Amino acid sequence: MKLKIAVLAGDGIGPEIMEQGVAVVDAVAKKFGHEVSFKKALCGAHAIDEVGDPFPEETFQTCMEADAVLFASVGDPKFDNNPNAKVRPEQGLLAMRKKLGLFANIRPVTTFDCLIHKSPLKDEIVKGADFICIRELTGGMYFGKKVEPTINENGVEEALDTNYYTRPEVERILKVAYQYARQRRKHLTVVDKANVLASSRLWRKVAQEMAPNYPDVTTDYMYVDNAAMRMIQDPKFFDVMVTENTFGDILTDEGSVITGSMGLLPSASTGEHTPVFEPIHGSWPQGKGLNIANPLAQILSAAMLFEYFDLKEEGALIRKAVDASLDQNVRTPEIQVEGGAKYGTKEVGQWIVNYIQNA
Ligand code: IPM
Ligand code: MN
Repeated sequence: MKLKIAVLAGDGIGPEIMEQGVAVVDAVAKKFGHEVSFKKALCGAHAIDEVGDPFPEETFQTCMEADAVLFASVGDPKFDNNPNAKVRPEQGLLAMRKKLGLFANIRPVTTFDCLIHKSPLKDEIVKGADFICIRELTGGMYFGKKVEPTINENGVEEALDTNYYTRPEVERILKVAYQYARQRRKHLTVVDKANVLASSRLWRKVAQEMAPNYPDVTTDYMYVDNAAMRMIQDPKFFDVMVTENTFGDILTDEGSVITGSMGLLPSASTGEHTPVFEPIHGSWPQGKGLNIANPLAQILSAAMLFEYFDLKEEGALIRKAVDASLDQNVRTPEIQVEGGAKYGTKEVGQWIVNYIQNA
């Protein structure tokens, strides 16, 4: 297969983990005889510094011309601490999602047995947890009408975000969720706040209408506050959960830590145009340039990329290599066992590349 991949490494630890992600894609492509080409493009803080735009038109074109985007992370503390900054690196990520029509964000929450002791939850609660959060990614408060803080006619400062959804937006994300549920344990949980929010009542109404079309799937409905609780009390309850943009943002951070390994979780964003594959974690500016960032989430994002194109064996080999590296304690410092040898970002990546080459 021929694959054109746009490489958006972004900021912070992004370029370091991306180097390993690209090396792994390259190794897999060689192994299986695929012709993969990479094209780098600017995004995030980096792009603001160089061209004044966190998602420049040229980057958009590179993404549109590619079959897939491999994305690392964006963000820089110099923007975080400046509420008056006119442009922010995160706007690049949001622009990318919107312009590529990436309405479905697939975030698997899977546990690695050897890392369960890192979870803040008790082993027996978290062991075996395996669910997917499908987060709507181009609607809701992120993109609804906004008013930035302004003084109103009564002299009071006010601001506004709007949680706006249309029926087609809800229908298309629910369809994606049902497709995933059908391929898994056939249990879909629709997470909303229909007891309070009108937008959630639309979600629930549409879901209740669609559920009978998927008789093989058990659909249940849960308020988001309850879902947040259930995720830590009994994460094994969930198989596929689907929710709106803001709720999904919050719940997936919660999901990522209960596995004990935020640095290990990949994600895929799919929709109308080129799909994007990226780690769930951020740009970790403190870790930049130190060769200590865990490249596994980036590498597993590459596995999701291959799987998206139905290249299952390729994806499986990457997952096997990652499991093997963990089993053999070839790990970055934050997950290394006490007294174990120290491996950096590069060394872990290289070990995985060698494993793939020799498989
Ligand atoms: C995420 C991130 C982004 C979001 C930020 C960086 C804009 O937290 O991908 O979850 O809120 O969607
Ligand atoms: Mn988030």
